[in-house]
Amino acid sequence: LYLTRQEEAMLRGDMGEAVAEAMRLIVRVGEALGAERLVEISHAHASGISYDNIGEPGLEYIRGLAERGGRVVVYATYNPVGMSLLDEQPVKLTRDYVEKQLEILRSLEAMGFRRSVTCIPYAMRRPRLGEHLAWGESSAVAVANTLYGARTNREGGPVALAAALTGRTYLWGLHLDEERRPKVYVRLEAPGSLREPWAGVLGHLLGRVYGGDVAYVDAAVEAPRGVQALCAAAAASGSTPMCIVRGVSPEDRGPPREPLDRLGLSWGDLVREARDIASAEPGEAEVFFTGCPHHGPEVLEELERLLDRAGARRLRRPIWVAVPGYAALEPRVRELAARLRARNVHVFPGTCPVVTRLRGAVKVVATDSVKTAFYLPRRHGVDVALASVEDFVRLNAEH
Ligand code: F3S
Repeated sequence: LYLTRQEEAMLRGDMGEAVAEAMRLIVRVGEALGAERLVEISHAHASGISYDNIGEPGLEYIRGLAERGGRVVVYATYNPVGMSLLDEQPVKLTRDYVEKQLEILRSLEAMGFRRSVTCIPYAMRRPRLGEHLAWGESSAVAVANTLYGARTNREGGPVALAAALTGRTYLWGLHLDEERRPKVYVRLEAPGSLREPWAGVLGHLLGRVYGGDVAYVDAAVEAPRGVQALCAAAAASGSTPMCIVRGVSPEDRGPPREPLDRLGLSWGDLVREARDIASAEPGEAEVFFTGCPHHGPEVLEELERLLDRAGARRLRRPIWVAVPGYAALEPRVRELAARLRARNVHVFPGTCPVVTRLRGAVKVVATDSVKTAFYLPRRHGVDVALASVEDFVRLNAEH
């Protein structure tokens, strides 16, 4: 693996022990994959920082990097964590758990990570066409590649941290032109344009059938929310890091000339896929969750309007909404969260049911997110129903 003089100096330890350790990791991974050199990145996004997921070993690793003087050298953000950043929590947490999670946040911020606490880092800094990133959140990776034409592989948590400290990653995979060309062609005949939950259902099917292959998606998908839902679900069911969506992706140059495979889909195929994803009916759900990937804070006003239109003074069963952690600092968000709470809509900045300690607290969740529907049964043993937020409000409005 070729290294520039500056990269060699980092590896030798000239910029400190944490940078040397980070560089060793990037070089090791790059060599194992057969990369020829490294590439400079402009934004690193670290995932795998929920204390519920990484536990004590993860906490020690991150604290160690900060104690050895690690400092970010590029724009750096981090993923949701295992607790809300407002007082109210979706589930009861122990004091020890909260302290450990806060220690992870303090260590990240001591290294210069921005208080982001979100899986939509593209809402903080919009990626540019062709720029190189090192992101670790699978849904954000797929959105960066698909919707913005930026270039990132799906980096493991430690590699994304290492990239933040060195400003480099290995030049491999989706950083290269030839790996970004669509290999399979998928056409969907359906009325209107897709958004949650149906865009996610299409994503689930794509990921399940084609996994990591870049697919050309010849379908009307609403941008950005439909594309986010599609990307998140495909990344969950099949580790899909990128699609080309007709008329949306900046790298859309039409269907592949000689695709490895072609798939024609109808609305009936999506309905069947949705039936396989869900294990419960919306009427059985104790709670509805929306915001996977995170919603921008503007969704809170939309929800308030939706309740007003439905004539719902409050809801019989609660809605949980996940928004970026940085939104918890905004007075307008706090005000809206307090108003919505009185109507049984609960706002959780900086977390989501997948990365918090949900197991045992809830049995059935309804959601418009197929990524959530994919992970809740696997991680927390929870049954899921698929529904739109409009349907859930209709079903639960108290007038
Ligand atoms: Fe984000 Fe949690 Fe979904 S981290 S993409 S809201 S599983």
